[in-house]
Amino acid sequence: MFISRFCRLGAHTIKRVVNAPTLTPRTSCSPVIYNQYLGALRHELFSSAATKLGSEDGNDEKEKINVTFVDKDGEETHIKVPVGMSMLDAAHENDIDLEGACEGSLACSTCHVIVMDMEHYNKLPEPTDDENDMLDLAFGLTETSRLGCQIIAKPELDGLRLALPAATRNFAVDGYKPKPH
Ligand code: FES
Repeated sequence: MFISRFCRLGAHTIKRVVNAPTLTPRTSCSPVIYNQYLGALRHELFSSAATKLGSEDGNDEKEKINVTFVDKDGEETHIKVPVGMSMLDAAHENDIDLEGACEGSLACSTCHVIVMDMEHYNKLPEPTDDENDMLDLAFGLTETSRLGCQIIAKPELDGLRLALPAATRNFAVDGYKPKPH
């Protein structure tokens, strides 16, 4: 990212230099004015690169939220999750034992997590019918159960705590077919 931004700035500067007044005997541009022009360009290139890189670094920090996973033994793992990433992906990136057999396609309940406080639970969008159908198959369903692949990190969820259930059921992915009643 640094390289490409730097290259864009470089290209912009080269364009400005190409369009700069040329030093020919016929122009009225003196070497003094020309040097001032180049100095201003140099300043623009380096100061704007630094500002943009600095703000990008700042945003990177801001765009991650703190999430804690609590396993069935009560052991806590604290991670930082980029805004926009699902809790399933975040768990996988951090070696947290959350299965996710269907890889987020709402065809299993193995990414079942329990949101540990109501305040955060209420900040989540309502589960879709498909998510509710899968949650109905989950082991140890609670009032604040959700599927980890459907919880997407956003700033309001900073401090989210998710408990991993003691077990999962994998009807859909293991090929279980419910019998008609
Ligand atoms: Fe299967 Fe979330 S990974 S529904």
